[in-house]
Amino acid sequence: MDKLLLIDDEADVRYSFERIFGSKDGLELSTAASGEEALDLIPQIQPDLVIMDVRMGGITGIETLQQLREFDTKTPVILMTAFGTTQTAIQAMKHGAYDYILKPFDVTKLEELVAKALDAARSMKQVVSYEPLLEEEDYDLGIIGQSAAMQEVFKTIGQLASSDATALITGESGTGKELVARAIYTHSQRNDRSYLAINCAAIPENLLESELFGHEKGAFTGATSQRIGKFEQSDGGTIFLDEIGDMTLATQTKILRVLQDGTFERVGGNKSFKTDVRLIAATNRPLEETVAAGDFREDLFYRLNVVRIKLPPLRERSEDIPQLVSYFLSRNSPKPKKPKTIQAGAIALLKDYDWPGNVRELENTIKRALVMAKSEAIIADNLPSEILSGHSEEGPDADGDDFSGLSAKLFRWARNNPDLKVIPAVERELVINALKETGGNQVQAAKLLGITRATLRKRIEKFSIRQEISVE
Ligand SMILES: Nc1ncnc2c1ncn2[C@@H]1O[C@H](COP(=O)(O)OP(=O)(O)OP(=O)(O)O)[C@@H](O)[C@H]1O
Ligand SMILES: [Mg+2]
Repeated sequence: MDKLLLIDDEADVRYSFERIFGSKDGLELSTAASGEEALDLIPQIQPDLVIMDVRMGGITGIETLQQLREFDTKTPVILMTAFGTTQTAIQAMKHGAYDYILKPFDVTKLEELVAKALDAARSMKQVVSYEPLLEEEDYDLGIIGQSAAMQEVFKTIGQLASSDATALITGESGTGKELVARAIYTHSQRNDRSYLAINCAAIPENLLESELFGHEKGAFTGATSQRIGKFEQSDGGTIFLDEIGDMTLATQTKILRVLQDGTFERVGGNKSFKTDVRLIAATNRPLEETVAAGDFREDLFYRLNVVRIKLPPLRERSEDIPQLVSYFLSRNSPKPKKPKTIQAGAIALLKDYDWPGNVRELENTIKRALVMAKSEAIIADNLPSEILSGHSEEGPDADGDDFSGLSAKLFRWARNNPDLKVIPAVERELVINALKETGGNQVQAAKLLGITRATLRKRIEKFSIRQEISVE
């Protein structure tokens, strides 16, 4: 049941609200005839939404809003004014109103606005839910590894359990950073509160700040209503910021401040909010280099780097492979009670391989082999050719810009950027590589790609490639 409180000194207005909202399902309407009366009432009824007149006998709407905000920062408030001046509008928004409308109001518009504000109220109050990726019972088993390097990781997770310290997880793609972040949360004192994972690389740069800190209505083009950010929503909980290297300096500054004193402003607002969030950050890029290049604030780096968990690449801990394999066999076998097995020879090949995609690649390999296996055991023949031949198809430098590293790189990209349009990204990469291959000769590059030179030029323009090539 949503509770709506109307504050207006005019009996007529209270009456028309009774008519519009009084008998709506799921809605309970209360009214007050003055700001003073309302301030007494609010703690008792705890409304989900407050609508009030700006001009009232006694204290004004703005004053009422100000006093309300001293003990309640969240309940959305809609202000009504008989005539619109920018001043009242600005004042209203500055003091944290959710919106304002003009009297006399259009009933449909009012109803829409109320529905929207109630939605916002719900998202404020909602304990942010999270869906565990693993079965509950898997949590303890979720991270496999007996190697010394992994044992160190487990120890650090344990040490972190009793504190709220910020943790920075680094490691190549597929080494289990997300898994470790969840483990830190699961073993923390905040494990009964929300956990929210945000992939900074997957959100357009200009929207990330508003995603994290929210915005006020009108903060930028397209900000048609107020929005509550993740830091505000997760008060008391934990936020996992993935791909932390992908933030603008402005957003970094805000993160630094929220880490230092727990305060922030919504984008386009000047009111400070307090929040208490435990931050876990991760990146698969060397942050030190990003700092050196001036793209990442040094002070933020040190603030994040309080506890550092470095996840070793799989090729440096091949002793973990047999255990990982049996874990993946039992998780992915068609009959979990009677998982398929694997021949020793196949295990030996898996241990020899250098795993540019790390544990994720290993799990995918096992899944594929399970499909291929005709008998109860996986044999070497069921493994992909790059493993049979003893070296990765992607070449030793999977991150390099050579043609052979292309698929590995794209694979990573696509996974880290769920919104990425893969085809154009592939096209762009192909064009760049063809140009590099041919030393920038467009005729040859077009030939190599099997397209006309005109098409090539269009692509170069479309993907703004020229710069990149001439830098080489
Ligand atoms: N130690 C481990 N034990 C069991 N499974 C693991 C382990 N490490 C990683 N995995 C599995 O490998 C996959 C990739 O792990 P995860 O998503 O945590 O990697 P990541 O380091 O976040 O990679 P990226 O940088 O690409 O985001 C997941 O399915 C995860 O369950
Ligand atoms: Mg990840």
